[in-house]
Amino acid sequence: MPKNKSTSKIKTAKLIINKNTYELPIYNSTEGESVIDISKLHSQAKLFTYDPGFTSTASCESKITFIDGDKGILRYRGYNIEELANKSDFIEVVNLLIYGDLPNKEQLKKYKKLITRHTLLHEQIINFFQGFRRDAHPMAMMVGVMGALSSFYQDTLDINDAHQRQEATRRIIAKSSTIGAMAYKYSIGQAFVSPKNNLSFSENFLHMCFSNTAEEYKVSPVISKAMDTIFILHADHEQNASTSTVRLAGSSGANPFACIAAGVSSLWGPAHGGANQAALEMLEEIGSTKNIKKYLNKAKSKKDPFKLMGFGHRVYKNYDPRAKILKKICKNVLAHVGIKNDPILKLAMELEKIALNDKYFIEKKLYPNVDFYSGIILRAIGFPPEMFTVIFAIARTAGWTAQWTEMIEDPIQKIGRPRQYYTGNKSLKYGTKRSRKNTR
Ligand code: CMC
Repeated sequence: MPKNKSTSKIKTAKLIINKNTYELPIYNSTEGESVIDISKLHSQAKLFTYDPGFTSTASCESKITFIDGDKGILRYRGYNIEELANKSDFIEVVNLLIYGDLPNKEQLKKYKKLITRHTLLHEQIINFFQGFRRDAHPMAMMVGVMGALSSFYQDTLDINDAHQRQEATRRIIAKSSTIGAMAYKYSIGQAFVSPKNNLSFSENFLHMCFSNTAEEYKVSPVISKAMDTIFILHADHEQNASTSTVRLAGSSGANPFACIAAGVSSLWGPAHGGANQAALEMLEEIGSTKNIKKYLNKAKSKKDPFKLMGFGHRVYKNYDPRAKILKKICKNVLAHVGIKNDPILKLAMELEKIALNDKYFIEKKLYPNVDFYSGIILRAIGFPPEMFTVIFAIARTAGWTAQWTEMIEDPIQKIGRPRQYYTGNKSLKYGTKRSRKNTR
């Protein structure tokens, strides 16, 4: 039984191997699937479990985010994502994820101040930026600068000090938006714009991206609400690839900035956070509703590696609730910026309709995910596709830091160390075998 006893044992599973029976405890989750505790299996039965991609493995106990993939439910600390998207703002959601409950007015005001005072970056980080090529992908700069924060903020590296952990968390969340905006400015050859702490988190990010030395960007309420909703919807998503990466990196005792940099790297991949850039690029490549059939056939073909970006999810076997919210926001934003008939939105809606009625997508339960509509919104706001994953990363610093904190504070936390199913050579004597396939 986990030492913190927050899960209840309901029954045991019996595993019979060569006439030996092993009893494995089953713990009841508050909601969703129960788990079989196999942590003692190796010491008792000298066997490992094998689960590539962790499709059946719970890597930790967590109280932060709940997903019911069949019903299309997403909750942060018990609150439905739809309600949070309507009634909350990003910093309130950050507070909820990290501290476990919604703050009252006074607490929220105080928390906003605590985050905001960390938006500035050490001046020397500007020199650090100058080292990147002008055509560097903004995610490359995100990974590098996030990791480099550990060399600038050495007074918050002690993971065993609760105060330092909290301060590091606030630094990461506040500074990620400044770093993201700097990466954008650097990539377009404009001067960096300093944060303005009288603005909300989302307004400030838009200001740092779109104001310049000659002109102040006027943040409209429709755009800042859309930006804030995008941040809320991407804030956490339980044990996905990047969050698991943060937890695994942190399990060795690595400092929080290094762990978050590892998370940013994992997020970058097109199967994860990089899908928003890939989805928009795919829509642009399809170009016209005439070509939908051709691309659907490519997605269905076993011989073609092409996948419909923005479709499918490891956990959601129903419409991703975040995509539903973004579909509505998308229409508002396009109307606000005066795009009456965006051909890309039209194409996206047609593609969605056709795919949702296609046997292949129905049978495999492939629905639009969060990345399907976010790119269209971000493009209408004025961001280039290279910035989409950066925006995802800024939002996800909330979930990563909440999950990292939960892991550090978990009494049963150990270094993460998966085992393997070895299928390589048995012991060889040097020189006895030379493979022709040794140049892979
Ligand atoms: N287009 C065509 N076929 C697909 C797609 C797709 N987008 N997604 C899954 N499939 C097929 C897949 O080929 C497999 O077929 P088969 O059973 O014949 O081998 C079947 O559906 C099951 O898919 P899977 O690859 O086993 O599912 P997974 O859980 O390993 O992968 C996924 C989930 C999100 C990586 C995958 O659906 C995908 O690559 N989608 C496109 C990229 C994308 O939009 N990613 C964003 C995810 S949401 C944002 C985030 O949280 O990061």
